Amino acid sequence: MHNFDEIVERRGTNSLKYDFAAIKGMPDDILPFWVADMDFKSPPAVLQALSQIIHHGIFGYSDSIDEAYFNALFGWYQDRFNWHIKPEWLVKLPGVVFAICTAIRALTKPGDAVLIQQPVYHPFESSVKGNNRRLVVNELLYRDGRYYMNLEEFEHLIAEEKVKLFILCNPQNPTGRVWTREELTAVGDICARYGVYVISDEIHQDFVYPGYRHLVFAGLKPEYADITITCTAPSKTFNIPGLQISNIFIKDEKIRRLFIEEMIRTGYSQPNLMGLIACQAAYEKGAQWLDELILYLTDNLALLRDFLKNELPVICLIEPEGTYLAWLDFRELGFPDRELDRLLVQRAKIWLSSGPTFGAGGQGFQRFNIACPRAVLEQGLNRLKEALANLRI
Ligand SMILES: Cc1ncc(COP(=O)(O)O)c(C=O)c1O
Repeated sequence: MHNFDEIVERRGTNSLKYDFAAIKGMPDDILPFWVADMDFKSPPAVLQALSQIIHHGIFGYSDSIDEAYFNALFGWYQDRFNWHIKPEWLVKLPGVVFAICTAIRALTKPGDAVLIQQPVYHPFESSVKGNNRRLVVNELLYRDGRYYMNLEEFEHLIAEEKVKLFILCNPQNPTGRVWTREELTAVGDICARYGVYVISDEIHQDFVYPGYRHLVFAGLKPEYADITITCTAPSKTFNIPGLQISNIFIKDEKIRRLFIEEMIRTGYSQPNLMGLIACQAAYEKGAQWLDELILYLTDNLALLRDFLKNELPVICLIEPEGTYLAWLDFRELGFPDRELDRLLVQRAKIWLSSGPTFGAGGQGFQRFNIACPRAVLEQGLNRLKEALANLRI
């Protein structure tokens, strides 16, 4: 069993999560639970493959020359998701957000409407607006502690706003929903009927808790594969986002051609050598490590759940079905968001992701990244408890 309890010092490693506190106006001793990377070392097989390349000492332009890279991806998707990819579908890029921006420009024109479902990972909104497309928001519904898609409004907006592109987040960040077959086919059928392209961001695909199952959207019906760009990456799963590699799958030839032409216009060509090496090793040999990690995260989630229930019942956990991101409802405290942020940062000294960042429906919520050693999670929760206890004095 991999030792996920090991505390690895990340300060002083150019870590976005740890080393940018002062620059971002946070106290030096703040504990970070914000950006979505993990405080765990990558699987041993990944470290070994990377050290071989370091030892070789030449870091020239590179690409995946033989079939081994594709085969590693093929095996992963077949075994885990029963999805059968083809080599020609694959386009490698440095990241999923890069792919989303590329797809927006490739498939729509300035001023065209692009639909997203907030609260959602904030670069969805900035990618649409930053590329001068029109943002259309189909807000998720929050009922009895669970989020749902507002399907009636979804279809209405698609028709009324003449939406050209829908960006789906599955599993969903920050609400933790793993969309069901019924939900995915409901939106998929609407998109197919109205000729709407779909970007399916499945970067959190591998983090699904017991009892839930991730479904590849493009794998559900052939007509979905014909309109979809599926964005995946090994970065969240194996904690290698700094290595900048993502795998984008596009079945339709015309969409793929438009996408690649747009990619070329950005000046991007060969992928990062380290990313390629790490990705292949991870998909070939990282399965057991990942299975152990999911068990560890399941226990972290149980700790968070029990702690909130017993010590801080004023804060409500939106039970995540997937992702290592817990979406917490602080609204019962009655604080405006600015004050809530100040309380967490200045008094509790914990750094979460503030709800309003995720757009409509984020007010009064915070996102808590639980992918850390249990002792660190406990420390963070105790800090929160103390800060709230002091408030009541
Ligand atoms: C839903 C989602 N998409 C994309 C990303 C980032 O992907 P990349 O670093 O490959 O751009 C994240 C990171 O948190 C995410 O949660």
